Amino acid sequence: MDSHDGHELQVRVTRIREKHVEELEAMQRLVFPTLTQDELFTAQKYRKHVELFPEGQFVALAMVEGREKVIGAASAFRTTFDFDYIHHTFQEAVADGWLTNHNPKGDWLYGADMSVHPDFRRRGIGSLLYKARRKLVHQLNLRGEIAGGMLPGYERYKKHMTIEQYVMNVIMGRATGKTLAMQLKNGFKVRGILYDHITDPRANNCATLLVRDNPHYIPDYIKAGV
Ligand SMILES: CC(C)(COP(=O)(O)OP(=O)(O)OC[C@H]1O[C@@H](n2cnc3c(N)ncnc32)[C@H](O)[C@@H]1OP(=O)(O)O)[C@@H](O)C(=O)NCCC(=O)NCCS
Repeated sequence: MDSHDGHELQVRVTRIREKHVEELEAMQRLVFPTLTQDELFTAQKYRKHVELFPEGQFVALAMVEGREKVIGAASAFRTTFDFDYIHHTFQEAVADGWLTNHNPKGDWLYGADMSVHPDFRRRGIGSLLYKARRKLVHQLNLRGEIAGGMLPGYERYKKHMTIEQYVMNVIMGRATGKTLAMQLKNGFKVRGILYDHITDPRANNCATLLVRDNPHYIPDYIKAGV
């Protein structure tokens, strides 16, 4: 689908298939150390995602020691979203990890997961996965993407700042926040704070509500007029 040198590494982004699901399950535990067992995606859950919405499930693969290894993934589903009522938990959004609330007519893509193996970070893999999602949103003519963004970097600042102050400082480039910095760099905007969203003591279980609009979106009633 899309490939990239990943700073000397040949990386390929493609759809998740059965042969990837066990490795994906193992990578979840490495990437999300604070999540409960229920919040982590299992091989069985990945199979369900593929059954429901195959085009929304991406995996990044790289040749490592002669074999193609799973080094990143991004799972998503389609939904509608009311920005007047933003609060929700991660488990509510992802239907306990099964993505069974995927709505094939939903006008937003909801990013359920974004993960890069710890040994392969800062080589553009996350950005490559976001690029694949951007392309999908364009192809499906969706309004854009929504995600709950984890805030692991808050741990270093929590004695001196509220979570709101921390998010503002990352946006202004005055505090470091690896996940949020990466999402801002990839075109996401912070639209709110989701309290009690996901198990992450580093961020008092908070996450950002992130939105990346699709500049190419054309409402159906305008398309119908052509
Ligand atoms: C967040 C995550 C997906 C980023 O993946 P990645 O492949 O390392 O990201 P990229 O290499 O594409 O980074 C793109 C840019 O984001 C910023 N960025 C990424 N990691 C950063 C870090 N640790 N510190 C500061 N900025 C960072 C940089 O500007 C970087 O560009 P640069 O390397 O040219 O400076 C990865 O760190 C990860 O899996 N983290 C744990 C899980 C997680 O938090 N997922 C998101 C859930 S909401």
